[in-house]
Amino acid sequence: VNSSVDQAMGVESRRYYDASAERWRHRDPVLLPAEVMLLHKLKGQWPQIRMLDIGVGGGRTTAVFSAVTKSYEGIDYSSEMCNVVKERFPDIASSIQCVDARDLSCFEDSSFDLVLFAYNGIDHVEYHERPQVFKEMHRVLRDQGMLLFSTHCLRVLVPRICREISLRKRLRYLRQNPDLFLKKRRKDLTHAVVREGPVRVVYVDPFLQWRQLSTLGFEPLQAIDRRGNRVDLDTGDSGDDRKWDLRSWWVHYFCVAKK
Ligand SMILES: C[S@@+](CC[C@H](N)C(=O)[O-])C[C@H]1O[C@@H](n2cnc3c(N)ncnc32)[C@H](O)[C@@H]1O
Repeated sequence: VNSSVDQAMGVESRRYYDASAERWRHRDPVLLPAEVMLLHKLKGQWPQIRMLDIGVGGGRTTAVFSAVTKSYEGIDYSSEMCNVVKERFPDIASSIQCVDARDLSCFEDSSFDLVLFAYNGIDHVEYHERPQVFKEMHRVLRDQGMLLFSTHCLRVLVPRICREISLRKRLRYLRQNPDLFLKKRRKDLTHAVVREGPVRVVYVDPFLQWRQLSTLGFEPLQAIDRRGNRVDLDTGDSGDDRKWDLRSWWVHYFCVAKK
């Protein structure tokens, strides 16, 4: 792996994915609604598209996208995940590499038309390191190139924790993120780190994520929930303080790189 800085969260989740790679081999290969939308959005352009699939995992998206694109590169920082994809897709094995999203220096500037970081893979990156990932994705995309990624939604946590039946789990969440339940404090929250089984996951404020995309060099186009419904995050500078009951567990963001 070509990363020079290994933060604890990254190390933990990479170990987890290395250990569970065999399970990911057998996961349902079905595309998510946002990924099906992506197929439609770029209809007619696919034979020209050079794609980078970050956090390729067990290759859920590989069969479809490697078949329709001009070129397809898949990367993951888990070498075991990469091995699974190489075994599953021997014809494109040379396009699968063990690379960390924080350092894409093995790819040239503007060398992709499309970058996908699916299934909240970015939420395994420490919050303070996310800008570095966006910087790298922006660098390798050409001007107007498209980025589709998804990330866990902070504003789903309050209703989720309130609905949680297990008192033990409820208390654990509360202990981990007390500010979420203090109305005055939570409006300043940018994110929360939640332990989900063996790994920790970052949940970000979707309104903030939407606004930040512009400062990171991207124009946000559309936000979509897990079912493929539009999520309205375009509330100007304020974010919407009232919306702490979003139903969308995670949000997919379509955006384009501005150069
Ligand atoms: C939830 S899995 C999703 C796998 C696949 N993209 C899918 O949609 O089924 C997240 C993947 O992202 C990878 N990942 C997380 N952080 C990464 C990073 N900094 N660089 C590269 N891969 C990363 C993990 O190893 C894991 O394979």
